[in-house]
Amino acid sequence: MKQIFDLKSYALSYRRYTEFIVITAYILLIIISAADVSWSSTGKFSIIEPPDKTLFESGLMAIVIKINSPELDSIVIKYNGTTITAPVKKGKKFVCKTLTLKYGPNEIVVNARVKGKVVESKKIVAFYQSDVSSKFHTHPPEFQKRPFHEKGRENACKQCHTINLADNYPKPMKLKDSICYQCHKKITDYKHVHGPAARWDCLTCHNKNSRPIKYLTPKPDSKLCFTCHVASKKEWTRKKYWHGPTATGKCTICHNPHASNNIFWLKKPIWNLCVTCHVDKASGIHVIAAFVFSNKGHPTKGFPDPARPGRELSCSSCHNPHASNSRYLFVNGSPTVFGLCSHCHHK
Ligand code: HEC
Ligand code: HEC
Ligand code: HEC
Ligand code: HEC
Ligand code: HEC
Ligand code: HEC
Ligand code: HEC
Ligand code: HEC
Repeated sequence: MKQIFDLKSYALSYRRYTEFIVITAYILLIIISAADVSWSSTGKFSIIEPPDKTLFESGLMAIVIKINSPELDSIVIKYNGTTITAPVKKGKKFVCKTLTLKYGPNEIVVNARVKGKVVESKKIVAFYQSDVSSKFHTHPPEFQKRPFHEKGRENACKQCHTINLADNYPKPMKLKDSICYQCHKKITDYKHVHGPAARWDCLTCHNKNSRPIKYLTPKPDSKLCFTCHVASKKEWTRKKYWHGPTATGKCTICHNPHASNNIFWLKKPIWNLCVTCHVDKASGIHVIAAFVFSNKGHPTKGFPDPARPGRELSCSSCHNPHASNSRYLFVNGSPTVFGLCSHCHHK
């Protein structure tokens, strides 16, 4: 006799029945974990910001953790060999911290503890891409820029932070008068700070009316920078040759617009900055053309700069990083190699 599928007998079979439960539960689990929003908002805590796999183009990242369970006594954030422990006092609902990223992937593990024991653990990965990282100037496709100041995302912060600008946003007189300071305080925490950023005059450069993403800056950067650096614009415009990256107008390839530990708020010390792209110059053997009797080359660092008291010899001692009248961008605009030498070697 031909067997016909019979739901009733199938369901009544105890073994099949348990199989059914296990499979259904398994499918449900897959559905829940695929909808990662609902998944990550359950549990003893949730990572509200940033979303997993966010792409960053600067080294600072805010992490915001929501406490869902009152029993937790601390949150421990581990990343790049650093551990941050934030005690969770009674009634505390959020933990907000600023982390410093390294180039490339950054794995951030957040542990919730009760009496010193880890009771729950979550992980996100952030990627820091930079034009001046030789290894990480591009990113894997799964990482995407996800602008924070877009519709909706700020809502989770309203309860405790001021996020609405009054139309007549006053120029802040003190750091703490700037609403940006609440969340971006670390942005000026460096040795050298750019004038307008040092005054927390953030909205001279960031457009408060841009939508859907707030606080955009004009592109390319040069449009913005030259509104104040009028003299530089005038001087460079007159020159015959422009340096490749400067000609793109993307000044922030090399300069951080806010602050840095390097002079001129450069993203790296000058010599290191230049050899990121001009890799062959890192060997130290350079300007061989002028050294007909040896292949040792001319030093490019490690001495004081004879033409600039107080400065170190570096690539920009001989080359202008922006523009010049000589093809090799010599600082004195000399059209010949030997015309450059007398800039420092007199007699
Ligand atoms: C329940 C209140 C609360 C909520 C909600 C909240 N914060 Fe905070 N946040 C604070 C407090 C209080 C501070 C400053 C004190 C501190 O350092 O903990 C702070 C500080 C910060 C800092 C600076 C951290 C540092 O020290 O570098 C950032 C960044 C931040 N918040 C971002 C956010 C963002 C983004 C949201 C919304 C997604 C948010 N916060 C939601 C209370 C909150
Ligand atoms: C409630 C906290 C909060 C406040 C207040 C705040 N920001 Fe942000 N901002 C963030 C977070 C979080 C990011 C995401 C990047 C990060 O982690 O630092 C961000 C990113 C940005 C970006 C990068 C583009 C983007 O949307 O991701 C700009 C530009 C910016 N903020 C400017 C400002 C300016 C200007 C102000 C003051 C008018 C301000 N922010 C106030 C939390 C805040
Ligand atoms: C709102 C006006 C303003 C804008 C826009 C501006 N700057 Fe400046 N910048 C200044 C002022 C004022 C100084 C001098 C004070 C100081 O050293 O911070 C300065 C100084 C500098 C210096 C150091 C100059 C020196 O001789 O020491 C650099 C480098 C610089 N800016 C780069 C930039 C770049 C790159 C941009 C575009 C991303 C930019 N600036 C946009 C106002 C501005
Ligand atoms: C001199 C102009 C200028 C000033 C002043 C300025 N910014 Fe920016 N900011 C920029 C530019 C240009 C970018 C780069 C955008 C890009 O890379 O596309 C930027 C980027 C940012 C970003 C994105 C991440 C990062 O760090 O690059 C944040 C956040 C930010 N600014 C916050 C602020 C805050 C807060 C202030 C006030 C202290 C401020 N900015 C003042 C020009 C400025
Ligand atoms: C290739 C990297 C690079 C790019 C791109 C770049 N700069 Fe610079 N910038 C430098 C270096 C290096 C110095 C320091 C030069 C020195 O040793 O005096 C500097 C110095 C400066 C100074 C200080 C005064 C001077 O002229 O030396 C200003 C202002 C400045 N840059 C603005 C800009 C602006 C505006 C742009 C975009 C149009 C830009 N820079 C693009 C590398 C760069
Ligand atoms: C982001 C990458 C980048 C950085 C950083 C950079 N450069 Fe360049 N540089 C270029 C490109 C691209 C060109 C144009 C290539 C060409 O024309 O052969 C160029 C061209 C030059 C040239 C002219 C070469 C020629 O054959 O005419 C000199 C000199 C130079 N760079 C010096 C420097 C110095 C000095 C620094 C540091 C202050 C620097 N560069 C930083 C990308 C970079
Ligand atoms: C003492 C002066 C001096 C210093 C310092 C110097 N250069 Fe040069 N550079 C020259 C001269 C001269 C030339 C012309 C070609 C030659 O003689 O090799 C040149 C040519 C170049 C060129 C174009 C031709 C080529 O060889 O690719 C680049 C790019 C360059 N330099 C980058 C750099 C970088 C990057 C640094 C720092 C690591 C640096 N230079 C430091 C003098 C200097
Ligand atoms: C920006 C300044 C500067 C320029 C331009 C410059 N030099 Fe030098 N030169 C130095 C410094 C600094 C030293 C190392 C200290 C010293 O020996 O005086 C040096 C060293 C030398 C040495 C000795 C090298 C050694 O290893 O002992 C020679 C030879 C020399 N330079 C030739 C040249 C020639 C040729 C040019 C033109 C192509 C030139 N320099 C351009 C600054 C400069």
